[in-house]
Amino acid sequence: MAKNKTQYVCNACGADFPKWQGQCPACNEWNSLEETIEQKTQHRYASIAKTTPNQKLSEIALEDFGRISTGISEFDRVLGGGLVDAGVVLIGGDPGIGKSTLLLQTLANLSLESIPVMYVSGEESAAQIALRAKRIDSDAPDLVVYPEIQLDKILHSLESARPKVAVIDSIQTVYSDQLTSAPGSVAQVRECAAQLTRLAKSTGISLILVGHVTKEGNIAGPRVLEHIVDTVLYFEGDTQSSFRLVRAIKNRFGAVNELGVFAMTEKGLKGVNNPSALFLSQSSDSVPGACVLVTQEGSRPILVEIQALVDSSHIPNPRRLAVGLEQNRLAMLLAVMNRHAGISCFDQDVFLNAVGGVKISEPAADLAVLLAIQSSLKNKALPKDLVVFGEVGLAGEIRACPRGQERLREAAKLGFKKAIIPKANMPKGVQFDSMEIHAVERIEVALQLVRDF
Ligand code: TYD
Ligand code: MG
Repeated sequence: MAKNKTQYVCNACGADFPKWQGQCPACNEWNSLEETIEQKTQHRYASIAKTTPNQKLSEIALEDFGRISTGISEFDRVLGGGLVDAGVVLIGGDPGIGKSTLLLQTLANLSLESIPVMYVSGEESAAQIALRAKRIDSDAPDLVVYPEIQLDKILHSLESARPKVAVIDSIQTVYSDQLTSAPGSVAQVRECAAQLTRLAKSTGISLILVGHVTKEGNIAGPRVLEHIVDTVLYFEGDTQSSFRLVRAIKNRFGAVNELGVFAMTEKGLKGVNNPSALFLSQSSDSVPGACVLVTQEGSRPILVEIQALVDSSHIPNPRRLAVGLEQNRLAMLLAVMNRHAGISCFDQDVFLNAVGGVKISEPAADLAVLLAIQSSLKNKALPKDLVVFGEVGLAGEIRACPRGQERLREAAKLGFKKAIIPKANMPKGVQFDSMEIHAVERIEVALQLVRDF
């Protein structure tokens, strides 16, 4: 028998090379090449989409995606309205964050609606799954549980049972006999995901794959996994608190950055319909260094408290630390504040935190960050009923944010009475007459405004 040829596959981008190198030439990632046996089956990856002859757009028969509601409204929201026939969803997250719990609840709900489902588990035994289902009151009698890790057996049983929805928990435990590398290795994960996806596309099964995450928080295995599937969801939030966030990173059937909010209870995950109150701190008095931001997560505005602590530093390079917000953005905002408003923090440590473990990536948080920092520096609390949003530019200008009216409406609904917003977001007419709205164009004006409150 001819000697097996080895090749080196990049963990990050999936490119392959005949020789090991310290840095992947394709994506410049360091130390990401891993040895695998060269596969004769490479062509399988090419045919994930159904092959049809070329057609004009106008001639293609439009199929309506059958949406399947999961019975959990927050989960439907991140999926863009429910699961899709032949759609493949990858769901990642830290161990113990609730992936298996959420999917078991989903399948139980579907099964109780007489939709045929299958739960393939390589991590837990059938008895463990049954026990958990019982504990969270999700013991649907017709839910099919299949503890198996061998790809061919899984493919075969999906093919013959033809469930409407199937869960593979997790893709890292599944292995194909045709490959010699260990389960969880790049080659195995890639091959198994590709074959499962192909099956989903050809049979119309809606498939949910669970993916482990690496220490850095990426889904383990090559990036190609995220390219193959239709939807990528991530669980966020720390396991210490009971709140869990599910965010859509990629979605071919819906909006991205949509956020589902859950609470982990002793009876499994429960959707939180009005999450705004979650991310406000519980203290009843207003404290210096806190500022309430209205952030827009997907289609929904959420109120989040931004906290800053500014303290005199005793080290040559004062610390700038941001939890839930971007560290580089913090450094930039401090420079803008120094240059345009004359407030300097060069001899101060600055710590920043978004309450509740939520991650905020949109620049609309800038103004809230500045006001929180000034409030902590001057030791003067902001009014308790104040909300702000606005992006800050390098010239010290305050830029408009998308969906300003929706943000204001959410704040008004929760009883906030004052708002500082970008000038361009000023609502016309008198729809917010319960609120005192200050529309500002420059950061020095905004910072002066709160000093006079
Ligand atoms: P699990 O779904 O097994 O996590 P994953 O599959 O993402 O690794 O979640 C397990 C955690 O959730 C575990 O730490 C216990 C907790 N939990 C509850 O608090 N309540 C419950 O009803 C269940 C089922 C789990
Ligand atoms: Mg699990």
